[in-house]
Amino acid sequence: MKKSLDNQIVLEASASNSYLAMACWCEVTGYQGSANYFYMQSDEERTHMLKIVHYLNNLGEVANIPAIKAPLHSYKSLEDLIKTALKSEQSVTKAIHAMVEIAQKEKDHSTYVFLEWFVNEQVHEETKFETLLQKFDLIGRDKLAINEIDKILAADASAPVDPAI
Ligand code: FEO
Repeated sequence: MKKSLDNQIVLEASASNSYLAMACWCEVTGYQGSANYFYMQSDEERTHMLKIVHYLNNLGEVANIPAIKAPLHSYKSLEDLIKTALKSEQSVTKAIHAMVEIAQKEKDHSTYVFLEWFVNEQVHEETKFETLLQKFDLIGRDKLAINEIDKILAADASAPVDPAI
């Protein structure tokens, strides 16, 4: 179980780095709303990582802080970037579900309950990116449409932060 939780620290830290790189690409490309959104998303992933770090440390296990591979730095389009974000969330979801199964198998009830928050959070994260991707079909892919989508991301980035996150 400890090994899986350490591995999850790698995934959350990688997601944080990857969203930071996405924010940079958006900012330089001129998508300011999307940049704000992904800077916020990067911070969120760091809080996910810290939840696991504190959980392990509170149990007297020292969390392993890993080296992180450099993320992608460029994208074909905003849509391509959001597709990459969704794929990354889908693989995080798989890893969380695999951990839940390990917790069940090892009868580790504390970790099982601890992971419940992550299971719910992944449903929320995947829905968020799926909904954003739908906007490209609904609004379009020309410059004006992408500008509208950037505004939607800007509004999401300035929405009050969910205290549960
Ligand atoms: Fe913490 Fe978006 O997975």
